[in-house]
Amino acid sequence: MINIIAAVGKNNELGKDNKLLWHLKGDLKFFKEKTNFQTIIMGRKTFESLPKLLPNRRHVVLSQSDNFPSEVIVYHQIQDLLENEQDGFIIGGGKIYTLLLNYANKLYLTEIDKTYKDADTYFPNFDKNVFEKEILKTCYDEKEDIHYKHVLYKRR
Ligand SMILES: NC(=O)c1ccc[n+]([C@@H]2O[C@H](COP(=O)([O-])OP(=O)(O)OC[C@H]3O[C@@H](n4cnc5c(N)ncnc54)[C@H](OP(=O)(O)O)[C@@H]3O)[C@@H](O)[C@H]2O)c1
Repeated sequence: MINIIAAVGKNNELGKDNKLLWHLKGDLKFFKEKTNFQTIIMGRKTFESLPKLLPNRRHVVLSQSDNFPSEVIVYHQIQDLLENEQDGFIIGGGKIYTLLLNYANKLYLTEIDKTYKDADTYFPNFDKNVFEKEILKTCYDEKEDIHYKHVLYKRR
């Protein structure tokens, strides 16, 4: 099963200058719990935004390029990726979420209660009626003074 995991601002903001717009320790923990020992599927830019290869995870990258560490599985075509990868988490970014949203069964969205005016990358708009919504947890980050929720959208 292919799932999506993403953290979004109030206007679907994802990032700026190939970085996240927030630092939420609790969300990083959630991301780790969900993706540990799984395949993580991402676009080349998101791969480049990672500080290093993430432990315990199989990295799959979509790119026209071949310039990746040997541990990384690279696909040049979306069709090849879909034929060969039936399980895993799509971890971004905006381009890859847009390309693969229709193939995802579950969306784990961290919905952040804040707007970010200078974002340059956004999560795609999607029809929430085709998903069943479950709020998994509501959280507050004291350091950043940000309220956020882990929400699961399950395709009906
Ligand atoms: N908030 C979150 O949860 C979250 C999660 C992940 C990322 N982000 C943010 O999102 C931003 C990055 O997203 P992005 O949309 O700019 O880039 P991206 O989706 O990570 O990667 C785009 C790259 O993927 C490759 N690609 C895309 N479509 C392709 C296709 N059809 N065939 C082959 N390759 C294809 C291309 O790589 P080549 O140019 O190498 O061909 C393209 O440049 C950053 O700011 C990052 O911090 C946020």
